[in-house]
Formats: sequence, structure tokens, C-alpha cells
Amino acid sequence: MHDASTHESVFDGKRRARLDEIMKRYPTKQAALLPALWMVQEAHGWVSDQAMAEVADVLELTPAYVKGVVTFYTMYHQHPVGKYFIQVCTTTPCNICGAEGVVEAFLQHTGCGELGATSKDGRYTVVEVECLGACGFATPVLVNDDFIENVTSETVPDLLERYR
Ligand code: FES
Repeated sequence: MHDASTHESVFDGKRRARLDEIMKRYPTKQAALLPALWMVQEAHGWVSDQAMAEVADVLELTPAYVKGVVTFYTMYHQHPVGKYFIQVCTTTPCNICGAEGVVEAFLQHTGCGELGATSKDGRYTVVEVECLGACGFATPVLVNDDFIENVTSETVPDLLERYR
């Protein structure tokens, strides 16, 4: 998934061509900021200050503006995360259905130990998130882009088998 070092330029070659295509769809370069940041995250797994500066340069924005957007949206990682980024809803409706137990099971079976930490093998990072909009299917979990409902502490080990 991550095919470049964080020190390499993101918008060279094919990615630059893709970004140019995206920019054509918008009236201003600034409007392409979110997809540009998404491309950075696809390439590096997270958005470093250096990458924010590159995005700012390409889109003719200030690095401070880009950083403001990155820090606003929780979907952008500001530090390296595991290959599998696991988000567990722990808002009240899910919580009363056992979400805390689901979180504990993930922390234990991934080896992460604590929320926000990455497992030693680099595979997993587990975080809690607010309502994922599937309150009737507690507990919903996002593993990268996969949305999985009805997760329980008992089903966590089997679920993780899919993400090795
Ligand atoms: S409270 Fe968990 S999905 Fe809504």
C-alpha cells in the first residue's frame, strides 16, 4: 500500500498526472486539496510536514493552510500508523452493547497494548471513534476502508485473521 519513503516527492510522474487530472475538475487549485492529501496518505500511509509543504507548493497554498486542513479531518494521519488502521465506535449506543470489550480484544490480539499505539510488527493501530452511523449493528469497526458490523469481543480473533 505504501510505495514510497516519506522523503520522496509524492507528485512526480503518474501521481502528478493524476493530480493534474483532478485539478481540471475544479475551478481553483485549492479545491483539489482534499484529494491531494488523500494521494499523499495513499503513498506514504500518513501526511508528514514535508508532504504538507509539497502539497502547499503544488496547489499554491501556504503550508499553514494545508496543516489547518490536515488537523481538522481525523481521516488524515499526522504520524505513521500500522498497515491496518482499526477504528472502533465507542459512542454510547455501541458502548452499552459491548464496544469497550471489542476495543480490549483488539488491543490484546493485535499486540498494540494501548489505543493509538502501533503493534511492534507494524501491522496494526487501534483507535476509538465517534458514531460510525451503524448504531443498530453494534459494534461497527472500520479496518482501513472495510466497514464491518456486529463485531464482538469473541469475533475479533477471527476477524483479524483476514488482516495478517
Ligand atoms: S453509536 Fe456506534 S455506530 Fe452509532
